[in-house]
Amino acid sequence: MSSLIWLVLLSCSTLVISTKNASDSNASQGKSIFILAGQSNMAGRGGLKSGMWDGYVPPECESSPKILRLNADNKWEEARPPLHRDIDYLKACGIGPGLAFANSILKKNLSIGEIGLVPCAIGGTQISEWRRGGPLYKQLMSRARAALQGGGIIRAILWYQGESDTRSEEDAKLYKTRLAKFFTDIRFDLKLPELPVVQVALASGEGPYIDDIRKAQLGIDLPNVKCVDAKGMKIGYDGLHLSTEGEVHIGQMMADAFAQFIA
Ligand SMILES: *[C@@H]1O[C@H](CO)[C@@H](O)[C@H](O)[C@H]1NC(C)=O
Ligand SMILES: *[C@@H]1O[C@H](CO)[C@@H](O)[C@H](O)[C@H]1NC(C)=O
Ligand SMILES: *[C@@H]1O[C@H](CO)[C@@H](O)[C@H](O)[C@H]1NC(C)=O
Repeated sequence: MSSLIWLVLLSCSTLVISTKNASDSNASQGKSIFILAGQSNMAGRGGLKSGMWDGYVPPECESSPKILRLNADNKWEEARPPLHRDIDYLKACGIGPGLAFANSILKKNLSIGEIGLVPCAIGGTQISEWRRGGPLYKQLMSRARAALQGGGIIRAILWYQGESDTRSEEDAKLYKTRLAKFFTDIRFDLKLPELPVVQVALASGEGPYIDDIRKAQLGIDLPNVKCVDAKGMKIGYDGLHLSTEGEVHIGQMMADAFAQFIA
């Protein structure tokens, strides 16, 4: 192939691959990387009992040699729950949506090769703490770059956050703007302007402004953002965190939403 054609292919590939054409981009191009970010329901609290994970791994969250996880040392390893154990390490972690998402993606035969999950969620964090330049944002960016070292494509950001923004009217009012800016900044800094985002509309919160946050999430006006709704999912003992069953369900819904990007 002539070098001119290669140039054209290279300059087009990011956009094409990150959104539509799955058949152009299979395992030969390396991992399909997914960034997992947000707060506790993304980090995973499913199966926690008196501050400890019960150890139950549902069949939907089983490990596979095709599902890797970037650990806190930025090394790939076979993913097993809890995915965030060394990232959100100040809290007890249990089942989150990540493995159910990945297993569900594999079942869809999308020809996207090996899956690389990059856990970045931290419990109890507000959207303002994820602003560009802050420590959470920097950590996410540096883990995303580390994930790309071995080759691969960042396919999407999976985002589940907002419970901590339901406490004040001010935060609730600003949520939509802050969220849109966060997604836009990440896309810009990763140089993936059309990077798909799959986010979750809240099922629970820490304060009275749950509906305002949900409205912001469901109404976000950016291309390539899909929102799955956690309303009605099974919440665990504390009224805030999804149960294992709820997390599995959300992970599968996120996989269905992601599949629409490459259908
Ligand atoms: C994807 O790429 C293949 C090969 O280049 C092409 O034949 C096919 O039409 C493309 N599909 C879409 C949906 O763009
Ligand atoms: C995936 O890549 C391999 C080469 O590594 C190629 O033989 C195969 O046809 C590709 N599959 C699809 C669906 O593009
Ligand atoms: C995926 O491929 C497997 C094995 O070829 C097949 O059994 C399964 O039905 C396929 N699933 C879908 C959703 O196409």
